[in-house]
Amino acid sequence: MRSDKRLRLLCLPLMALLLSVGALASTPEAEDQAGRALMAAQAAELQAAQAQAANEPDPLWTQVRAGESGRTTAQGPFVGQLINAYDPALVSTRSDTTAPVLTGALFGVFVIFALFVLVNGPSRLSAGFSNVMVKRWPKTDVFIHWLMAIPCLLLIITGLMLLAGRYVFGAWLGPDAVAAMAAMAKPIHDYMAIPFAIGAILAMLRWMKHNIPAGYDLKWFTTVGGYLNFGPFKDAHPDAGFSNAGEKLWFWCFTIFGLIIIGSGVVMLFPDLVQPTRSGSLLAITLHGLSAIILTGFTVVHIFMATVMSEGGMECMVSGYCDENWARQHHNVWYDEIKAEGSIEYRS
Ligand code: HEM
Repeated sequence: MRSDKRLRLLCLPLMALLLSVGALASTPEAEDQAGRALMAAQAAELQAAQAQAANEPDPLWTQVRAGESGRTTAQGPFVGQLINAYDPALVSTRSDTTAPVLTGALFGVFVIFALFVLVNGPSRLSAGFSNVMVKRWPKTDVFIHWLMAIPCLLLIITGLMLLAGRYVFGAWLGPDAVAAMAAMAKPIHDYMAIPFAIGAILAMLRWMKHNIPAGYDLKWFTTVGGYLNFGPFKDAHPDAGFSNAGEKLWFWCFTIFGLIIIGSGVVMLFPDLVQPTRSGSLLAITLHGLSAIILTGFTVVHIFMATVMSEGGMECMVSGYCDENWARQHHNVWYDEIKAEGSIEYRS
């Protein structure tokens, strides 16, 4: 049936050609007739092609879209299958869920926390600044922190452009601006992944010892670390070691989802090296987006806590030293320990 149609399609222009060749050697009326026949043949050819395209799905492409495998001379695994037929629900998760939730994790958490800080106010040092500075982080750790933090912020911004640019901002910005944004974001995202991964793995290895859970961490959670300036929470200074319970939660989330985001990123950045299966790639892209949501939300909270919520806290990751009163108020168990051991180091 299909080959009959193809034959007809081939025959129509051939007949028209014969008619027009014949017309070259004949009278003006015959020439006119041949011209009309040629036009009619072309119109019929177009009509037939349109009817075929509209009515008959091409069986070849139907099979390709269904994920059929064939034979090819190309080398390598999975090359015989042009398209992987994923569960469509998984593919649409990216546009319908991951993209808007990631946008919410950045802007939504930012707005909620900003409102919270406005209502609650920051956590002030009860005894004020002593101006006596105690060593908290070695220079190496300050360097490692910024080695991962600065690329991480760029990864969040460019990741959001790549994932949500089209779905969330496309309607306002238009396709050209979204395309330009994605073209700019892609290389930054790829290159920033390397220093982030190096810094994050070093931080995980070096800071794990500060983040072992302790019995007093539970009390820290029930009193929200003394960061709420009202009711029974006001001026509560629960026990905390080098890291408080909130920082421990952040550290372990950062470690678990950081490793997932790095692992899935390696799969996507170096496909020739990893050679993932089609489903492996889909899993990597899904896990990457879900981890990005959790890390982005937590990063926004972490930045608020370090900069505006904890008076004197930011100095720790600038000079590596903290005010002695800050150490007493926020990390009393650690402070008492280094004082008792005699390992406390003051800035001269
Ligand atoms: C502008 C951005 C940031 C600022 C201002 C900032 C600030 C700080 C400060 C002041 C500390 C020390 C807290 C203390 O000594 O108790 C710290 C620790 C830390 N930061 Fe950041 N940070 C930023 C971004 C990031 C990012 C993007 C990440 C993750 C990728 C990150 C991960 C960490 C971790 C894991 C710790 C150690 C927590 C612990 O183990 O006690 N930071 N940050």
